[in-house]
Amino acid sequence: MEVCLCLCSISRSSSITKFGTSPILIALLLSLMCFTYTDAYDVLDPNGNITVKWDVKSWTPDGYVAIITIYNFQKYRHIQAPGWQLSWTWAKKEVIWSAVGSQATEQGDCSRFKGNIPHCCKRDPTIVDLFPGTPYNHQIANCCKGGVISSWIQDPEKAVSAFQLSVGQAGTSNKSVRLPKNFTLKAPGPGYTCGPATKGKPTKFLTPDGRRFTQALMTWNVTCTYSQFQAQTAPSCCVSLSSFYNDTIINCPTCTCGCQNNITHPGTCIEPDSPYLASALRISEKNDYKPLVRCTKHMCPIRVHWHVKTNYKAYWRVKITITNFIYRMNYSQWNLVVQHPNFENLTQIFSFNYAPLVPYGPINDTAMFWGIKYYNDLLMQGGPYGNVQSEILLRKDKSKFTFEKGWAFPRKVYFNGDNCVMPPPDVYPYLPNASGHSGLILLHCLATILISLILLHNL
Ligand SMILES: *[C@@H]1O[C@H](CO)[C@@H](O)[C@H](O)[C@H]1NC(C)=O
Ligand SMILES: *[C@@H]1O[C@H](CO)[C@@H](O)[C@H](O)[C@H]1NC(C)=O
Ligand SMILES: *[C@@H]1O[C@H](CO)[C@@H](O)[C@H](O)[C@H]1NC(C)=O
Ligand SMILES: *[C@@H]1O[C@H](CO)[C@@H](O)[C@H](O)[C@H]1NC(C)=O
Ligand SMILES: *[C@@H]1O[C@H](CO)[C@@H](O)[C@H](O)[C@H]1NC(C)=O
Ligand SMILES: *[C@@H]1O[C@H](CO)[C@@H](O)[C@H](O)[C@H]1NC(C)=O
Ligand SMILES: *[C@@H]1O[C@H](CO)[C@@H](O)[C@H](O)[C@H]1NC(C)=O
Ligand SMILES: *[C@@H]1O[C@H](CO)[C@@H](O)[C@H](O)[C@H]1NC(C)=O
Ligand SMILES: *[C@@H]1O[C@H](CO)[C@@H](O)[C@H](O)[C@H]1NC(C)=O
Repeated sequence: MEVCLCLCSISRSSSITKFGTSPILIALLLSLMCFTYTDAYDVLDPNGNITVKWDVKSWTPDGYVAIITIYNFQKYRHIQAPGWQLSWTWAKKEVIWSAVGSQATEQGDCSRFKGNIPHCCKRDPTIVDLFPGTPYNHQIANCCKGGVISSWIQDPEKAVSAFQLSVGQAGTSNKSVRLPKNFTLKAPGPGYTCGPATKGKPTKFLTPDGRRFTQALMTWNVTCTYSQFQAQTAPSCCVSLSSFYNDTIINCPTCTCGCQNNITHPGTCIEPDSPYLASALRISEKNDYKPLVRCTKHMCPIRVHWHVKTNYKAYWRVKITITNFIYRMNYSQWNLVVQHPNFENLTQIFSFNYAPLVPYGPINDTAMFWGIKYYNDLLMQGGPYGNVQSEILLRKDKSKFTFEKGWAFPRKVYFNGDNCVMPPPDVYPYLPNASGHSGLILLHCLATILISLILLHNL
């Protein structure tokens, strides 16, 4: 049951689609999968993907110039520093003569060239973004953001990254050009799988004066999708709970993200009053992204605390606090996704941005929250400022609302797209005299199956 609560999701494998529209079979399959962790695809963002589009803009004596655009079509998964790294394998003996708004990480063996030396001769180049502040003659539109891409809901304009390549030894017509193979998003890394490149309708570009369309000579694109199952990342986030009606604070489960082990692995975490903290923080000024986590029982970089704060006649109020336990890492453009049956009646939200995540789905129970620009969109590194908080006001849905059996607590929480580990439901703060919750969990599982079913139908 517990497995279902955190991980209930479905797999879009071919075995499902083969059964066509037989809902009973699908329901059966889903209910079976509910208890095995096959998180091949995300129920809350079933079409989420990163699309890489190549537009050949002009031919050159031995190849072409292409604009490559990366679109992050994922609702709440973004790419944070140190940014994306895109790699592929050339189909022939192509080389990259030059790059604008990006660079190859390695030049490779260009010894067969005399005079003009290409920017990169590797058969499987890896391209990275440049940083803001790059000279203008090395920039193109949407480049140079250090590889950081926003999620689609947070900022669709910043969910795009682009660069230009001049490719040589490539063929100079739409008949001789071969599409590159084996596209890989090396960063953000495991979890993303890219499909093959497919030729599509040539993109149309509006000229700067806005009066004429020009057309790419050739366009192909690649779709990459994320699977938490494939990522196999250890948890990085946990949830703690409290309420006005019970003094008990339910902490994050111990060892959620690792265990303190200062005997065999000293330095796996650092105490806030440790004399080493100051020197460790100084190292951070170099681009060292190795996390340095504060010692806690759960050892998670991120803790989300849900406090049921106030009970009014027709409303109730929740306080959400997100705490960063990593010294030397800021989370920019963080986001939080929370599932709770009363979100349908969310009335007011303070100091976070909000969007309903499945607003037209059968069950409108999932909310996405993120920071307000220049106010709290940066979740600061661990320490006195390492937290952001908000309160939300919900109108009681009379048919469902209760403080009993942990109903007031969230069902699922994701931070930056990663599942946050919840305490087991049997330790939730009780209303005095309340009994167990197994009925609730079963209900939730059924609800999840229902959502999945209808989403599948709409695919
Ligand atoms: C990728 O996402 C876009 C935008 O949501 C969608 O139009 C497209 O169909 C998706 N591609 C795939 C292969 O799912
Ligand atoms: C190549 O381009 C020509 C002219 O633009 C077009 O007619 C032809 O269909 C294209 N061929 C392929 C294989 O895309
Ligand atoms: C595809 O690319 C990945 C990463 O660059 C590499 O590990 C893998 O061997 C490549 N596969 C093929 C078939 O080239
Ligand atoms: C990618 O290519 C597919 C197939 O040609 C097309 O259906 C889709 O709209 C393209 N996506 C983008 C974002 O251009
Ligand atoms: C390990 O760390 C914990 C928590 O800081 C502390 O209570 C404990 O005494 C430490 N153990 C040793 C052997 O240093
Ligand atoms: C985090 O952001 C603050 C404020 O912008 C900055 O002073 C600090 O150096 C940043 N820390 C890291 C590790 O980037
Ligand atoms: C879903 O809930 C949100 C929050 O209450 C609301 O703004 C939105 O209109 C709802 N959508 C539908 C289709 O009811
Ligand atoms: C809660 O939202 C649902 C769907 O929008 C609506 O049917 C219901 O009446 C709302 N309940 C209250 C108490 O506003
Ligand atoms: C508060 O909740 C805990 C379970 O987490 C329970 O053991 C305790 O009895 C509750 N306190 C009261 C006063 O009901």
